[in-house]
Amino acid sequence: MLLKVLVFLVLGSVAVKSQQQTFNEDVLGLIFFKAGLQDPNSNLQSWSEDDNDPCNWVGVKCHPTTYRVTELHLDGLSLSGHVGRGLLRLQSLQLVSLSNNNLTGTINSELSRIGTLQGLDLSGNALSGSIPDEFFSQCVSLKSVSFARNNLSGQIPASLSSCWGLAEFNLSYNQISGQLPSGIWFLRSLQSIDVYGNLLEGDIHEGIGNLYDLRHLNLGNNRFSGRIPQDIGSCSFLKYVDFSDNYFSGNLPDSMRKLVSCTSISLRGNSLRGRVPSWIGELTSLESLDLSANQFYGRIPYSLGNLQSLKELNLSMNRFIDEVPSWMFSVSFDQVLRVLDLSSNGLYGEIPSKLGVLSSLVYFNMSRNRIIGSIPSTIGELKAIQVVDLSDNMLNGSIPSEIGGAVSLKVLVLQRNFLSGNIPTQIVNCSSLTTLILSENNISGSIPTAFPNLSNLEYVDLSLNDLTGSLPKELANLSQLVFFNISHNHLHGELPLGGFFNTIPTSSVSGNPSLCGSIVNRSCPAVHPKPIVLNPNSSDTIGGSSRNHHRKQIVLSISTLIAIGAAAFIVIGVIAITLLNIHVRSASRAAAALVLSGAEDFSCSPTNDPKYGKLVMFSGDADFVPGANALLNKDCEIGHGGFGVVYRTLLRDGRAVAIKKLTVSSLIKSQLEFEREVQTLGKIRHHNLVALEGYYWTPSLQLLIYEFVPSGNLYKHLHEGPDRSCLSWQQRFNIILGMAKGLSYLHQMNIIHYNLKSTNVLIDGSGEAKVGDYGLARLLPTLDRCILSSKIQSALGYMAPEFACKTVKITEKCDVYGFGVLVLEVITGKRPVEYMEDDVVVLTEMVRGALGDGRVGECVDGRLRNNFPAEEAIPVIKLGLICASQVPSSRPDMEEIVNILKQIQCPSDGNGNDKG
Ligand SMILES: *[C@@H]1O[C@H](CO)[C@@H](O)[C@H](O)[C@H]1NC(C)=O
Ligand SMILES: *[C@@H]1O[C@H](CO)[C@@H](O)[C@H](O)[C@H]1NC(C)=O
Ligand SMILES: *[C@@H]1O[C@H](CO)[C@@H](O)[C@H](O)[C@H]1NC(C)=O
Ligand SMILES: *[C@@H]1O[C@H](CO)[C@@H](O)[C@H](O)[C@H]1NC(C)=O
Ligand SMILES: *[C@@H]1O[C@H](CO)[C@@H](O)[C@H](O)[C@H]1NC(C)=O
Ligand SMILES: *[C@@H]1O[C@H](CO)[C@@H](O)[C@H](O)[C@H]1NC(C)=O
Ligand SMILES: *[C@@H]1O[C@H](CO)[C@@H](O)[C@H](O)[C@H]1NC(C)=O
Repeated sequence: MLLKVLVFLVLGSVAVKSQQQTFNEDVLGLIFFKAGLQDPNSNLQSWSEDDNDPCNWVGVKCHPTTYRVTELHLDGLSLSGHVGRGLLRLQSLQLVSLSNNNLTGTINSELSRIGTLQGLDLSGNALSGSIPDEFFSQCVSLKSVSFARNNLSGQIPASLSSCWGLAEFNLSYNQISGQLPSGIWFLRSLQSIDVYGNLLEGDIHEGIGNLYDLRHLNLGNNRFSGRIPQDIGSCSFLKYVDFSDNYFSGNLPDSMRKLVSCTSISLRGNSLRGRVPSWIGELTSLESLDLSANQFYGRIPYSLGNLQSLKELNLSMNRFIDEVPSWMFSVSFDQVLRVLDLSSNGLYGEIPSKLGVLSSLVYFNMSRNRIIGSIPSTIGELKAIQVVDLSDNMLNGSIPSEIGGAVSLKVLVLQRNFLSGNIPTQIVNCSSLTTLILSENNISGSIPTAFPNLSNLEYVDLSLNDLTGSLPKELANLSQLVFFNISHNHLHGELPLGGFFNTIPTSSVSGNPSLCGSIVNRSCPAVHPKPIVLNPNSSDTIGGSSRNHHRKQIVLSISTLIAIGAAAFIVIGVIAITLLNIHVRSASRAAAALVLSGAEDFSCSPTNDPKYGKLVMFSGDADFVPGANALLNKDCEIGHGGFGVVYRTLLRDGRAVAIKKLTVSSLIKSQLEFEREVQTLGKIRHHNLVALEGYYWTPSLQLLIYEFVPSGNLYKHLHEGPDRSCLSWQQRFNIILGMAKGLSYLHQMNIIHYNLKSTNVLIDGSGEAKVGDYGLARLLPTLDRCILSSKIQSALGYMAPEFACKTVKITEKCDVYGFGVLVLEVITGKRPVEYMEDDVVVLTEMVRGALGDGRVGECVDGRLRNNFPAEEAIPVIKLGLICASQVPSSRPDMEEIVNILKQIQCPSDGNGNDKG
C-alpha cells in the first residue's frame, strides 16, 4: 500500500515536472505572440505569464495527455497587429485560426516551419503584400490554408506545388494576379480550391482531371479565359463548380456529363455558346444550375425536367428560342424548385396554366421574352412566391383576382404588356408587397380603396395606364414609400396630403389633367362639412327650421362656403361651375343656414362631430348674402400668397369682407391651437392694420374673414398703375408713416409680422396704409425657418439676412428689415429685386451705393419729376437703409421709427391726407 503511494508520488512528480517545462515553453511562446497584438477588448486577459496552465486560456486547446498546446482559436476578437514568431515555439501546434480580426502586415513565411501545423486560417483580416515563396516551400504537414478576404496581391508562388498534403486552399477575395501555377494540378490531395474574386488570368490547362478527389472548385469572378477544361469530368466527386464571371468561351465540354455528384454548377457571365446538350439532364444531383448571361441558343433541353432536385435554375440572358417549356411546370419540379429565371431570352407562347404546381417557387422571372396570353389564375396557388416579374412581354387580359392568394408576394412587376381590366382589390391580401410596377399597360378602373392597407409598399409605378377615379387619401399613411408614379392616367380629385405626398415629384403625377393639389398647381374644390349651429341658446337650430335667431346672430349660408371653396376650381371651366351651382342649391335646401352667435359666445363648446365646421365672428351683425353667386366669378379672387387665396364677398348689409382660404391646411396646428392663435390676432385693432373679423374651421378647410380694404395693395399702386396716377410724395410719406404705426402697434402686442412685402400692405379709400397678413406664421406648428422662407417670405428681397443663419434668433427686427426695404421701394418706385436681362439689381445695395456716391437724390422715383422736398426724402432714404441693416441690433425699433418719421415731416405739410 505504502509502496504504491510512493511509486505514485514519484511517478506523478516526474510527470508534473516535465509538464511544467513544456508548459513554460508554450506559455513563453503564447505570451510572446500576444505581445505582438493589440487586444482592444481585452479578450486575452486570461493569457498571463503568472498562469502556468495555458490550457485554460481563452482560445487555447491542449492535447489531452501531453498537455501541449495544439490549437489556437482566436476568431473575431478585433485583434490587430502582426502574427509574430512566438508561435514557432509551440512545438505541437496543429491548428491556428485567427479569422475575422484586424491583423495587418504580410504573411509570416516562418509559420509553415511549425512542423506539426495542419491548418492555418487567416481569412478576414487586413493582411497585404504577396504570399512569400518560402511559406509553401517548407510546408510539411499543411492540409488546409485560408487567406481569404485579405488584401493580398502578387502571384500565387509556384512553390505551392510542393505542398503535397494540401487538401483545402482558399485565397478568395484578394487582389491576386497572374496565372494559377500549373503544379497545382499535381496536388492529388486537393479537395477544395477557392480563388473567387481575384485578378487571376490565363487558361486553365488540362490536368485538372488529376485531382480525382476534388469536391469544390471555385474560379469565379476572375479573368480566366480559354475553354472550360475538357477533363473536368474526371473529377468525379466534384460537388460544386463555379466558373462564373470570367472570360471562358466555347461549348460545354462533353466530359461534364460525368459530374453526377455535382449539386451546383454556375457558369454565369462568360462567353459560352452553343446548344445546351441534353445530357445535362443526367446530372441528377444538381440543385442549382446557372447558365445565365452567356450565348447559349436553341431550345431549352427537355431533359432538364429530369433534374428532380433542382432548386434554382437561371437561364436568363441567353438566346434560347423556344416555347415556354411547359414540362417545367409539371409535377416533377413541384416541392423543390424555388428560383426560376428565364428572363431575357426569346421564349414565346403562353405561361402554362399549371404554374400553380410549383408550390415552393419563391422567385419567378420571365421578363423580356415574347410571351402572350394571360397571367394564369393559378398564380394564387404559389403560397411561397415573393418575386414575380413578367414585364416586357405581350401578355393581355387582366391581372387575376386570385393574385390575392399569393400571400408572400413582395415584388410584382408587370410593366410593358397589354394588360387591361382593373387592379384587383384582392391584391391587398398580399400584405408584404413592397414593389408594384404595372406601368405601360391598359389597366383601367380606380385604385382600390383598400390599397393603402399595403403598408409595406416602397415602390409603386402605375404610370401610363388608363386609371380613373380619385386617389385614396390614406395613401399618405404609406410610411415606407419612396416612389409613387401615377403619371399619365385619367385620375382626378385631390392628391393626398402629407407623408410622401408632400414631396412627390411633379413628374410622378403629371399627365392627369383632373388631379388637383399644390403639387400639380391646381387648387381643389374643397369638400365641405355641414356647418354647425353654435348658438348655445337654441339646441335644435341645425337646418332650415332655425329662423328665430336673436339680433346678434350671423347667418352664413352654406352655399357661400361652398362657393368659396369652389371659386378656385371655377378657373378650370364653366361646366364645373354649373354643376356646382346645382349642388349649391340642393345643398342649401337641405341645410339652409348656418347660424351662430356673436363674439361673446364663441367660448361655448361646439359639438365634437367632425362632420361640422365652426364659424366664429369676433363682432356681431354680419349677414352674408345667400347664394353669393358673385363668388363664382374669378374676378372675386383678389390675391393669393404663400398662405392662401383671398376672395371678396358681400355681407347682406352691403359691407364687403375679404375671405382668405388657407392653403397650408396640412401644416395647420390642432383646432385648439389654431383657435387660440386666431383669437389673439382677432384682438388686434388698429387704424393701420387690416382687421381680422372672424374665421371658419374644419380639419380640411380654414377660412379667415378680414375687413375688406378697397383700393388694392401697395404693390399695384407702385408698380402696376399708369404713370400719371402715380402716388405723390405726400401720399408716399403718409403710407410709410402708416405702415410704421401699424407695425409699431403689432410689436407692442408681441406679434411679429414675418411676411412684410408690398403686396401685403393695402391702401384704403383715403390713401391710408393698412398692413395685412400679419402673424400667420403663428398658425404653423413650428416657426420653422424652411417653412417660413418657402411659405411666407417667398417674395425675394424682403427677407432679413438672419433667416439664413440658423444660430441667430428671429425677432421683431426681421420686420424692421422688411419695413426698411418697403421704405426704399415706396420712395424709389422700384421692386426690391429687379431682374435685368443679364443682371440682378438689389434695391438696398443700389441705394446704399448711390448714397456713398452722393447721388442719393437720383434714387427718388422719377415719376415724381423732382416734385418732392429733398429735406424729407434724403432722411427717409437714410432711415430705410438703417432699417435694412444686415445686423439686427443696428436696426431701430418701430416705435423709434415712428418718432423719427414724425420729426422728419416738415411742419408745413403736416396734413397727411393731402392727395397732391
Ligand atoms: C479594424 O481597425 C479599424 C481601424 O484601425 C477599425 O475602424 C475597425 O473597427 C477595426 N475592425 C474590427 C473588426 O475590429
Ligand atoms: C473561402 O473563404 C471564404 C471567406 O472566409 C468563405 O466564404 C468560403 O466559403 C471559403 N471557401 C470554401 C470552399 O470553404
Ligand atoms: C490594399 O493594398 C493596396 C496595395 O496593394 C493598397 O493600395 C490598398 O490601400 C489596400 N487596401 C486596403 C483596404 O488595405
Ligand atoms: C440570373 O442571372 C442573371 C444574370 O447573371 C442575374 O442578373 C440574376 O440576378 C440571376 N437571377 C437570380 C434569381 O439569381
Ligand atoms: C428579371 O430579369 C431582368 C433581366 O433579365 C432583370 O432586369 C430584372 O431586374 C429581374 N426582375 C427582378 C424583379 O428581379
Ligand atoms: C389575348 O391575345 C390573344 C392573341 O394574342 C387573343 O387570342 C386573346 O383573345 C386575347 N385575350 C384578351 C382577353 O384580349
Ligand atoms: C385573402 O385573404 C383571406 C384571409 O387571409 C382569404 O380568406 C381570402 O381567400 C384571400 N383572398 C384571395 C383572393 O385569395
